Amino acid sequence: MIFDLQLGVFDPNFLQRKHYLFVCINGRAADNPKGCCALKDSEEVYRALKAEVAARGLAKLEGRVCTSSCLDQCDTGVTVLVEPDHFFYGHVTVADVPEIVDGLIAGHPVKRLVITEDQYTL
Ligand code: FES
Repeated sequence: MIFDLQLGVFDPNFLQRKHYLFVCINGRAADNPKGCCALKDSEEVYRALKAEVAARGLAKLEGRVCTSSCLDQCDTGVTVLVEPDHFFYGHVTVADVPEIVDGLIAGHPVKRLVITEDQYTL
């Protein structure tokens, strides 16, 4: 059961993994005032995060690392959306990857990287 229409209940076991990490790899021209994650090395962040999750044996059940188009948090990119936890990491670099995976294992976010409400762009 994924969603029981009669009961209106969503089965959380539907998710194949506990967490999904979406790394924005959206690119824009260098002179675009919005900026973009691709020009801040987001593809390297994506590859490093995917490799670290796999190296620690977490890829099958714990975490799936995916690419994403723009998550609309361009100012604070590189942006990583963590679901179903429902928060953004911002200003992520390759150097942050081990700590992010540590947080995934420990079950708490890396606070210094979490985009706060006053940083959101809507
Ligand atoms: S380009 Fe990455 S959040 Fe917009």
